[in-house]
Amino acid sequence: MSTASGKFKRITTHRLLEMKAAKEPIAMLTAYDYSMARIIDGAGIDILLVGDSASNVMAGNETTLPITLDHMIWHATSVVKAVSRALVVVDIPFGSYQGNSSEALKSSIRIMKESGAHAVKMEGGIEIKESIVRVLSAGIPVMGHLGLTPQSIYKFGTYTVRAKAESEARKLVEDAKLLEEVGCFGIVLEKIPAKLAKEVADSVKIPIIGIGAGPDVDGQVLVMHDLFGITQDFKPRFLRQYADLNKIIGEATQQYIKDVKAKDFPSQEESY
Ligand code: KIV
Repeated sequence: MSTASGKFKRITTHRLLEMKAAKEPIAMLTAYDYSMARIIDGAGIDILLVGDSASNVMAGNETTLPITLDHMIWHATSVVKAVSRALVVVDIPFGSYQGNSSEALKSSIRIMKESGAHAVKMEGGIEIKESIVRVLSAGIPVMGHLGLTPQSIYKFGTYTVRAKAESEARKLVEDAKLLEEVGCFGIVLEKIPAKLAKEVADSVKIPIIGIGAGPDVDGQVLVMHDLFGITQDFKPRFLRQYADLNKIIGEATQQYIKDVKAKDFPSQEESY
């Protein structure tokens, strides 16, 4: 299904609010390059997230911390060129917004100006309120991210489910309300109990997009490489694998090697 003909209406932050109000689930997926973004956008995804998970799945790092603002802009620029329908949201990477609100604004402006993306995402609640407000004041839509926030992995020490303790759960609900109040257009909730995620989704009017947050939220997000079965060693309970591209690509590569070694490729028809 192609969007090149413009038969789809572009997804906007306003449309996402309408979808929540109409109880229409929102589908979000990551993408990091032109070719995959084109396929995923053509299939009708609502939000494409240029996630800092690029640090893991594209660059092979153990955490999201090493990826830089320049790297994120490079990925985002490639994705934006491919997209004609989805809203493109870009993660502001670790170390380019936590310093102060003017650093957050400067980084966000670079992302929007240089990549052509539609919105940015930041991890955290009350601690980064000033930065969120400053970025929003420049007219840049901001998506929040609460629960398991991978940029804080060394503070957590583990990728286990967050907010099981009542005190952390209460803070998370308060943070979600705060993000709505200051003007975020949506929030990603990562790896928290499903009951708590439902409470959050019921207490705000902005869309709550879950990853490992159960079914009672307004939409779901997954990392592209996990959904397509490209990553093989990552099988959390929340992941549903929709394809086995690792197997398909591995077998195709083996066949290609065999054909080259046997001088079966290229054939006369494949030559000039
Ligand atoms: O970077 C990312 O891919 C994310 C998703 C896990 C939501 O933030």
